Amino acid sequence: MQSTDFIVARDDLQQCKVIDTERPDAAALPNEALLVEVTRFAFTANNITYAALGDQLKYWQLFPAPAGYGNIPVWGFGEVIASKHPDIAVGETLFGYFPMATHLVIEAADVSKRGLRDGAAHRQGVAPVYNAYSRISGDPAFAGKQGYYQALLRPLFTLSFLVDDFLGENEFFGAKRVMLSSASSKTAYGLAYLIHGRGIKVIGLTSAGNVDFVKSLGCYDEVVTYDKVTSMPSDRPVAYVDMAGNSALREQLHRHFGEQMKYSGRVGLTHRSTSADEPVLPGAKPSWFFAPDQIRKRAKEWGPGGFNERFGAAWAGFVPNLDRWIIVTEGHGPAAVQNVYLDTLNGRVPPDQGHVLTL
Ligand SMILES: NC(=O)c1ccc[n+]([C@@H]2O[C@H](COP(=O)([O-])OP(=O)(O)OC[C@H]3O[C@@H](n4cnc5c(N)ncnc54)[C@H](OP(=O)(O)O)[C@@H]3O)[C@@H](O)[C@H]2O)c1
Repeated sequence: MQSTDFIVARDDLQQCKVIDTERPDAAALPNEALLVEVTRFAFTANNITYAALGDQLKYWQLFPAPAGYGNIPVWGFGEVIASKHPDIAVGETLFGYFPMATHLVIEAADVSKRGLRDGAAHRQGVAPVYNAYSRISGDPAFAGKQGYYQALLRPLFTLSFLVDDFLGENEFFGAKRVMLSSASSKTAYGLAYLIHGRGIKVIGLTSAGNVDFVKSLGCYDEVVTYDKVTSMPSDRPVAYVDMAGNSALREQLHRHFGEQMKYSGRVGLTHRSTSADEPVLPGAKPSWFFAPDQIRKRAKEWGPGGFNERFGAAWAGFVPNLDRWIIVTEGHGPAAVQNVYLDTLNGRVPPDQGHVLTL
């Protein structure tokens, strides 16, 4: 019996391949371990960022691959096909962080009614969210199309929710306008959706080919292409949330807005054109938005369940829009996975597409 893994060369993400490995023997699983079949996973630019930061943020250590290669983590679903844990039955469905592979062995720890954690030694030292699995068997919120939306967007919308909360808490640093780069990305439009209606103008920055899509969403007050950013009025305070990670764009914006740039938060790297050596820029100092800090702060302030309750309400309001905003496409097998990977890596996926895959 074999397992299949999709792996990429760590030092050249254009190089990728599918490998077969021996499937772990169900009978030989250690106590409390589970053998899980990865049944579906989503793939977006966020997963490419995991690969781009694989060494720096330890993503490569989560799902080991042969030397020189990495297995990119993905959000999705798995079915337990063998269990050595007394409280977890074969047939259970889990939602969480999986490798691009057909199978994963999980060392089940901290098992509760709602979830569990992979306690494998090589998975420690990363944020707890990356080792947590939700037990979702029979939960309608994860069934069918709703499940695809969860895999495609829930992790991204969590970041959107946290940035919106952080900006709101800081009264948008005195700005009445917020610019979002890669406005067509799911993370950006989730944030635009949340900010829209707060009395703050949301400006989407995007490439010419994605203008129509961004305008069609209805959650941006204005859409500006990257080549026109210096045409925006620069005499009033503005905040910037950067999903693109484009150093040249950041420099252009900071020089244009000068001291009116009141906040400059870095979130993503969709353009993969970040210079290691950025100059000191006028206006607020660019800084990475670190989601776990905001989660920890709110968990303390909002008490047990407070975060989930607020996030759940925001998610419930957001999801109905997705029927208009996303066309989910399912792909099966190594060739489909490789095509979606390379298309995503090279910016060829139209923003209205949401890919859900199985190896
Ligand atoms: N820090 C965190 O905790 C955190 C959490 C969630 C997401 N993020 C980051 O937010 C970013 C957006 O992720 P997502 O999954 O929401 O993206 P997505 O929906 O897949 O975004 C697609 C958009 O990104 C831009 N893009 C993607 N690949 C490109 C390429 N190769 N060349 C040029 N542009 C490209 C294009 O937008 P434009 O034409 O509009 O530029 C494209 O329409 C990622 O970098 C992700 O890692 C960070």
